[in-house]
Amino acid sequence: MTSENQPKLRSRAWFDNPDNIDMTALYLERYLNFGLSLEELQSGKPIIGIAQTGSDLSPCNRHHLVLAERVREGIREMGGIALEFPVHPIQETGKRPTAGLDRNLAYLGLVELLYGYPLDGVVLTVGCDKTTPACLMAAATVNIPAIALSVGPMLNGWHKGERTGSGTIVWKARELLAAGEIEAKEFIRLVASSAPSTGYCNTMGTATTMNSLTEALGMSLPGSAAIPAPYRDRQEVAYDTGKRIVEMVAEDLKPSDILTREAFENAIVVNSAIGGSTNAPIHINAIARHIGVELPLDTWQEKGHHVPLLVNLQPAGEYLGEDYYRAGGVPAVVAQLMGQGLIHEGAVTVNGKTIGDNCRGVAIEDEKVIRPFEAPLKEEAGFVVLRGNLFDSAIMKTSVIDQAFRARYLSNPEDPEAFEGPAVVFDGPEDYHHRIDDPALGITPETLLFMRGAGPIGYPGAAEVVNMRPPAYLIREGVHALPCIGDGRQSGTSGSPSILNASPEAAAMGGLALIRTGDRVRIDLRKGTADVLIPDEELAERRRVLAEAGGYPYPASQTPWQEIQRGIVGQMETGAILEGAEKYQKIAQTRGLPRDNH
Ligand code: FES
Ligand code: MG
Repeated sequence: MTSENQPKLRSRAWFDNPDNIDMTALYLERYLNFGLSLEELQSGKPIIGIAQTGSDLSPCNRHHLVLAERVREGIREMGGIALEFPVHPIQETGKRPTAGLDRNLAYLGLVELLYGYPLDGVVLTVGCDKTTPACLMAAATVNIPAIALSVGPMLNGWHKGERTGSGTIVWKARELLAAGEIEAKEFIRLVASSAPSTGYCNTMGTATTMNSLTEALGMSLPGSAAIPAPYRDRQEVAYDTGKRIVEMVAEDLKPSDILTREAFENAIVVNSAIGGSTNAPIHINAIARHIGVELPLDTWQEKGHHVPLLVNLQPAGEYLGEDYYRAGGVPAVVAQLMGQGLIHEGAVTVNGKTIGDNCRGVAIEDEKVIRPFEAPLKEEAGFVVLRGNLFDSAIMKTSVIDQAFRARYLSNPEDPEAFEGPAVVFDGPEDYHHRIDDPALGITPETLLFMRGAGPIGYPGAAEVVNMRPPAYLIREGVHALPCIGDGRQSGTSGSPSILNASPEAAAMGGLALIRTGDRVRIDLRKGTADVLIPDEELAERRRVLAEAGGYPYPASQTPWQEIQRGIVGQMETGAILEGAEKYQKIAQTRGLPRDNH
């Protein structure tokens, strides 16, 4: 690559600025101190960041420490210089009180790094649930050439000849434990069997979802999302990703060229076909806002609801990550959807080609795992958006509604797709764990379980606690799921057909703050409504009394970031971003480089 055919590199303002030689010397000397040479730094080679999300604290992404070596080799091969740096780690299962709290923190940190250092392009090492949106949100805000590299899922988990999938096995094992069928030691062994190698959750949880959607958005190389972490193909695509980012810098191919309205609609359609996580709308809407694309929540139902489920992965289906990859991964799914005209084929991707060109003609390699469009696992597998006096919006993932649930709640011929029942309300997961098995609550199969105080402000960060198991006595009678409704999230690995992400949350005085145990509630999936059946006047009176008492109570902040984020975070319907941050994408073209620091 020669310097004439590439755009002026932003890193030159640091390392090769004849108009400001004293600052150039200052910037250069410190980057020489670990072995980079003056010739290299002044050669006109692009400086490529490797945004490293892996560490001992984030086991899902830890394999990126290894993959980064291959990324560097790819960058070198094409004439770039790699600078690896850490991103604030986020571990979905390890971070208390929530990993949700850290998505926006990692975003914020990465924006400063990408903008404030001499980087011409960046490889985003993504994987575990929140790491993917955090990186894409930051790349959208700064809008320098960026390519995502997934770390890939773990190998399949096995226990006594059966596949055990991340998270999904936890919910099942908890039921077995509650029913007294297994003991503590067996419980831990069963859960641990689902994590046999490096990598992220091997189910269609939020990680596989977000990495699949990153590929569908065009932000990672075609065919790369599904490769299991330990496979040699994963090393190969790390190398290819490193090579490609150098070309992207030369082509000045930026996130704003890729993350278009069409790309987001493609992601929504793919999300339905893969049985994607209920966290996807939060994160995808957050990315859309940071790149400046309008994507109201209703778009998810409009574009996604009628799309069938094609991918047979847990929790909606049977298989796991290795099977998904062997069956063809994202390109095979996209090819099926293209056959129905459901994909905007002209959307550009990081390899410089369109998604249509990348995926056209890609065959399914195993139809048990990825179904042809004509023989789906379920029709109409996308989300339903619900509204009413309980909340302005919440979503329900219809692909996980099983026969038993449908028979009990959605099969009344006089009132199809609707059900009514009394509410039992829990204020946070501690309250739920404490009382769920208390017979005094009088929970029956008609009961609707409510979880509140679990949103972005209330928890804070929005906890994955809305899917609640029924009381042990009902499980023993064969009732494995009650309708659950809440202002928190649910793990993408859960197969519970909960009504989630309610916005505004109770802590923001949404309708959930007003509901009481014993109130009757009506849900109508066809009409898209969710209401507590009490008169408006009484609701207004409850609201007045609660507001006078200081609003819905939630625990005090325990760290500075909890307090800062609570003050500016939006609700889940609009991506739960730091409100105001989205305007920094719009000024990307005019803001120029940061001022010198001395
Ligand atoms: Fe990290 Fe599931 S916990 S990917
Ligand atoms: Mg999760």
